[in-house]
Amino acid sequence: MLADRDRIFTNLYGLQDPGLNAAIQRGAWDGTKAILERGQDAIIDEMKKSGLRGRGGAGFPTGLKWSFMPKEVKERPHYLVVNADESEPGTCKDRDIMRHDPHTLVEGCLIASFAMRAHACYIYVRGEFIREREALQRAVDEAYAANLIGKNNVHGWDFDLYVHHGAGAYICGEETALLESLEGKKGQPRLKPPFPANVGLYGCPTTVNNVESIAVAPTILRRGADWFAGIGRPNNSGTKVFCISGHVNKPCNVEEEMGIPLRELIERHAGGVRGGWDNLLAVIPGGASVPLIPKSICDDVLMDFDSLKAQQTGLGTAAVIVMDKSTDVVKAIQRLAYFYKHESCGQCTPCREGTGWMWRVMTRMVKGDAKVGEIDLLQEVSKEIEGHTICALGDAAAWPIQGLIRHFRPEIERRIAARAGVREAAE
Ligand SMILES: Cc1cc2nc3c(=O)[nH]c(=O)nc-3n(C[C@H](O)[C@H](O)[C@H](O)COP(=O)(O)O)c2cc1C
Ligand code: SF4
Repeated sequence: MLADRDRIFTNLYGLQDPGLNAAIQRGAWDGTKAILERGQDAIIDEMKKSGLRGRGGAGFPTGLKWSFMPKEVKERPHYLVVNADESEPGTCKDRDIMRHDPHTLVEGCLIASFAMRAHACYIYVRGEFIREREALQRAVDEAYAANLIGKNNVHGWDFDLYVHHGAGAYICGEETALLESLEGKKGQPRLKPPFPANVGLYGCPTTVNNVESIAVAPTILRRGADWFAGIGRPNNSGTKVFCISGHVNKPCNVEEEMGIPLRELIERHAGGVRGGWDNLLAVIPGGASVPLIPKSICDDVLMDFDSLKAQQTGLGTAAVIVMDKSTDVVKAIQRLAYFYKHESCGQCTPCREGTGWMWRVMTRMVKGDAKVGEIDLLQEVSKEIEGHTICALGDAAAWPIQGLIRHFRPEIERRIAARAGVREAAE
């Protein structure tokens, strides 16, 4: 269990004032100038050593990503863009960071921008997050007023920070769709390469990072890479904000040690599964787009990137969606299929056509109104979508269905048989 002294987000629940003075008392903005004085390369090396992997879903090493930015600023300025779109169902951590601990993010933006030689940063906030944007803007205004950021600030690195409000589309969380949207265009993913570190915002070198990835950076640099790397396991290090929702007695966000057993996470922090652990049916461990796992795996799986990957699922955004035995699991995945169909931007045929097709088949399967052979067909089509699209929304639509077939095939078959029985009886 994570010790209180190792918590990065000490106001995650908003029990204290999110404002600047209170944030300083909690340790924010402490020695920031000295961190910048270490220089860009030293900061990036320290981030690499910490083992931090991106908290936005894909788990790409943060320090390595920062190192992809050009070492010199030529005619094109550099940008940092923070992804605060947070639209993955079940995920609600970045909003609490913005509402209750926004100075962790503002300070992180300055340090990360400096490390990547950017004098400007944009934070792209999900359209529905009105209060979060207001809270974040207040923190940005306070930082300007205290001369912590802006031109000729006390840290000696000119830096402007802009909060940009999206219009509320899941696809705008995909980093290149986000850049398009920020440029005032329709939010549709770009083909890669070129990657944003080369051609990003306004055609300039850009790094896109998740809110949590940036907000943890100041503490890592203050306390040292070894401290962060010492929490969790190699390649899966540090603390992580988990979002626990669904059929638990006390849904919550909690910062915990990476690699905590799933069962301990749910029982210690979320008051346990409704009706007790034995009433558990399945868990989606990393936000809607990762495959679910049945209770037998939940019993002892660890919550980190590699442990969950070994179980053919993923840590994703660490949004843990708990389903007890009252859940109609086929219906639950059918509902997610609808979500992905609705959010597809429509650029690629496999995603545009495939998400709608899968949703329609899933809708019939909820009622058992299908043939047994269609289960394999559904699996096959999901494999044709996965990996064959411009962005990972196609994968995100395919994985929950693949997880359902992997672990709950007998339930789908049972419905088909029951429906066939009803039909026969009527004839
Ligand atoms: C459809 C889709 C939606 C996404 N939504 C988000 C999001 O809301 N927030 C986020 O940080 N990353 C999201 N991502 C991942 C981003 O593309 C990107 O990998 C991430 O912002 C990188 O930050 P990190 O390296 O700090 O994790 C999404 C990806 C896809 C394919
Ligand atoms: S995979 Fe889907 S959401 Fe992504 S670019 Fe293609 S059509 Fe758009």
